[in-house]
Formats: sequence, C-alpha cells, structure tokens
Amino acid sequence: MQKLIIRGGGRVRGEISVQGAKNSALPLLAGCLLAGGETTLYNCPELSDVFAACRILSCLGCKCSFRNNTATINSSELTGCEVPDELMREMRSSIVFLGAVLGRTGECRLSFPGGCELGPRPIDMHLSALRQMGVRITEEHGILHCTCPRGLKGTKITLSFPSVGATENIMLAAALAEGETVIYNAAREPEICDLGDFLNACGAKISGCGSGTVIISGVKELHGCEYTVMSDRIAAATLMAAAAVTGGELSLLNARCADVQSVIPVFEQMGCGIFCCKDRIFISAKKPLKAVKTVRTMPYPGFPTDAQAVVMAALAKAEGASVMVENIFENRYRHVDELVRMGADIKTEGKVAVIQGVKELYGASVRAPDLRGGAALALAAMGAQGETSLENIKFIDRGYESIEKTLCAIGGDVRRVNV
Ligand code: UD1
Repeated sequence: MQKLIIRGGGRVRGEISVQGAKNSALPLLAGCLLAGGETTLYNCPELSDVFAACRILSCLGCKCSFRNNTATINSSELTGCEVPDELMREMRSSIVFLGAVLGRTGECRLSFPGGCELGPRPIDMHLSALRQMGVRITEEHGILHCTCPRGLKGTKITLSFPSVGATENIMLAAALAEGETVIYNAAREPEICDLGDFLNACGAKISGCGSGTVIISGVKELHGCEYTVMSDRIAAATLMAAAAVTGGELSLLNARCADVQSVIPVFEQMGCGIFCCKDRIFISAKKPLKAVKTVRTMPYPGFPTDAQAVVMAALAKAEGASVMVENIFENRYRHVDELVRMGADIKTEGKVAVIQGVKELYGASVRAPDLRGGAALALAAMGAQGETSLENIKFIDRGYESIEKTLCAIGGDVRRVNV
C-alpha cells in the first residue's frame, strides 16, 4: 500500500501538459476489439484503469503493448468472449466492453458490475438498449450471458437519461450491426464525440455525436487506425482547482477550452483570472477566493459531476458560503468528512452541500474515498498549512497519471511512500 505525504502552503506555478482522457481511453480500448486489426492509440494515459482495460483485451485474445503513452492493440484473432469476474471487479466501467464484445463475436459473458464507491450504478439502460437490438440476456449467479440469436439489429433507442456508458455501449454494439441505430437523448459528453471520431477512423458510419441524437449506420467490418486520445477535461479542471486553492498561477497545455466551458465561470466567480487560447488555458488566482452561486452537476454541457469534488476543495477556502447540488450520483460527497478533518466547514443533506469557506485548512491524516474525492483531498492538502498524510491512493491512480509528479512539477511538495 502507498500513501502521499503532502506539505501544503506553497503556490503552484508554471506550465504543465494535461494528460489524455481516462474516460475516453476506456471506450476507445473497447472499440479496438471491433477493429479486427492493429490500432494505435496515442496520448493514452498510463493509469491503473487503462491497464485493467488492456488486461481485459489480452484475456479476450488481443495482443496489446503499451509504451510511452502509446497503446497498440491487435484484435485480428479473438480467443474468447468472456470477461473474468476479477477483471470486472477491478474496474466497474468495464461494462463498456459488453457492446464491443457482442458487436465482434455475437456473444458475451461477464459479471454484473453491481454497486461501486459512488453508490448503486445500475446498467438497466445498457441492457434494455441491447435487448432492443436483438440481444438475449440471461443472468445467473451474478453472471450475465448475452447472445444474439438473429444477429445485432439496428433500431431506434430512446434513453430515459443521457447515460454516458449506455450511449457508448450502444455505439459500440451498433457499429457492426445490421441496419441503422438511432439513439435519442444520447449523452453529449466530449468523450462520446471522441468515440464516434475514433470508430469513424476505423471505418464506421456514425453521425450526430454531441447533438443528443446519434445515428449509427452499421457496416460489415472495421479496420485498425491510428488515433490520438482527447485531452482529459477533468484533469484540466483538477489543475485549475490546484491553482485556485493555492493562490497560484498555471498555464495548461494540451487542454481543450470548449470542454471546460461550464467549469470556467465557476472559477471566474471565485475571482480567478482565466484566459483560453486554442489548446491552452491560463489561470491565475492571485486574489483571495470568493464563494460562488449554486453549482449544480448536470449531464454535459452542464457542470460535470467528476469536477464537483475538486472544485469543492477550492471553495472550502473561499470567503462566504457556496452551495453545490449533486444531481448525477447518489453517494458522491464522501470526501466531505475528510475535508472537514482538514478544517473545512461543509454540511451535506441529500444532494446538497453547503460550503462555508474557512481562512485556513490544516494538514491531517485522511483517506481517499474514491477517485475524484481523493484528488480533492490532495488539492486541499496543497492549500493547507502543515503536512497531510493521504491514504488509499489506489483510487487516485485509477484516473491521474502519477499525481505526485504532476503536483511536484508545478511546485508542490508531494511524496509517495510505501506504508
Ligand atoms: C461516466 C464516467 C464517470 C462520470 C459519469 C457521469 C466513464 C468511464 N465514467 O460514468 O466518470 O462521472 O459518466 O458523467 O466514462 N444510470 C442508470 N442506469 C443505467 C446507466 C446509468 O440508472 O443503465 C444512472 C447512474 O446510476 C447515474 C447516472 O445514470 O446516476 C449517470 O450515469 P452514466 O452517465 O451512465 O455514468 P457512467 O457511464 O457510469
């Protein structure tokens, strides 16, 4: 087990490149299964979740290599259609492999992902959509067995909520299905557009990504391609929050301004200066932070739930009271108790959190409750007086490439130590 020792009190500064997006790399890696040839993904972040996805691909018969943020996947010959339980447990979002395995082989066995650290994470929309496409699904002892007795058929699917994972699963299943699939109320997240662009580069016919209605005209086969994974908008928001909470100044390279449009106004209300230019975001937090109007998490283009915790870390030190409303996940305030241990004044009731800014946060012994909550604690520690010991960092490693190196590169005092 490892933990981070973070000595706070300094300001971050300098220039730093934003990593490739975890939430795009995972569905893209699943999409490699459909290519039936060699695919090279550049800017692929080196994360435990990405390595878990590569293990799933290997276990299905793909040849995978990973070096210098470049993943090469050869899916010419598959040897199986079953994702073992231990790999499903390693990463809840491995459900996105379901659509791809079905699209490629017409059959898939995997375990039910069940609950996770963000509360129950059902997959009813994924399964209902696949059933509409002709998939027969049986469940026994937590194992889902999916077959397509008459092949995968394109159809019109209306999602009751614009689920990111369900939209991705349908796109993956539909790329090689017979006929046209239309997804109404599809998720509009930039990662959906990245998956559409990637599959089109492999020979798929997908349009409408980002609009809420995605149209997939099934093709007979796909081929390998070379593709660059988009930049991680949540990692960008995390670095912006690092600047805010420490009163620092950062220039983010390889960042996409359009993807953080809903996050920028929140930092501006806090009093940060932000300047965007092409793939660069400059943020300066020289003045004391101010509280903001209510922040509500929403599906894209609304404020992302994944940025809620890191922005809360900054608001913990903003003058006045801020309110956050978490509309996407039920159990996404588990970082609050840990922030309170560091001196934050935050109260939650159901979906709502009221953050009364404090003058100082103080180093403490805390535990990462989940991925983004863990990142929020690392940021709070950077902006705190004294030393913080942050445990359970396996969660942070799921989504941030060597967070200690990133934070040290911008002037932080962060060490990873074995416990
Ligand atoms: C993805 C992201 C995650 C992000 C989330 C919302 C990945 C790997 N993960 O997760 O980081 O926080 O989008 O932006 O990309 N739901 C159902 N039934 C379903 C599917 C979802 O009720 O069949 C509910 C979920 O419980 C949740 C909400 O819909 O309350 C949003 O989930 P969804 O958009 O599917 O998120 P994920 O794809 O799991």
